[in-house]
Amino acid sequence: MVHIDTIHCGLYGCNCYHLWREGTQSALLIDTGDGLEAILDALKERGTRPEAILLTHGHFDHILAAAPLAERYGCPVYIHAQDAPMLQDPRLACYSEAFSRLPFAPLVPEHPFTGDSLSLPGFTFRVYHTPGHTPGSVCYRIEGEDILFTGDTLFAQGYGRTDLPGGNTPQLIGSLRRLLAMDPDIRILPGHGEGSSIGEAARYLC
Ligand SMILES: [Fe+2]
Repeated sequence: MVHIDTIHCGLYGCNCYHLWREGTQSALLIDTGDGLEAILDALKERGTRPEAILLTHGHFDHILAAAPLAERYGCPVYIHAQDAPMLQDPRLACYSEAFSRLPFAPLVPEHPFTGDSLSLPGFTFRVYHTPGHTPGSVCYRIEGEDILFTGDTLFAQGYGRTDLPGGNTPQLIGSLRRLLAMDPDIRILPGHGEGSSIGEAARYLC
């Protein structure tokens, strides 16, 4: 059985997802935003240890705790190759000191990927490259489960902005069309706000 905790991170309220399977201590983290203490508390409370960090894209509010967590646990960080430069350049990551608690710590991801699947301890993911909000935005679907992590591409009642560097509205529209054509029963867990389903999101947007 898959367990998923949502940890709210930082002033922008990024959702960090903490995943683990019943009976194991191995965990994964998706979008480790500006909430290091909250993430550490969640790991301690569940007695889990992160085996990897997955990022849906490279904006600062989703990545700030990745460097300290990767260093502490020695775990790899996964991001799409097109967003990997954002982990090393605070301007590309739209980093704002005024809106952050953690400093920007440049990180060279060991695993920038371009493929459509990721096999990690306890979980295999289907990866959908959904550019538009950023060039390397992705959605992660847990293989064998109807659960899709949509980052800032698709929200319960909206979609990601395209006016930041690297944003592209026609690309985002194409990505949303692909996502909204998926099984309406798939549960979506976005980068901000409440979860929903593909069907509910489609009813809201279309
Ligand atoms: Fe974003």
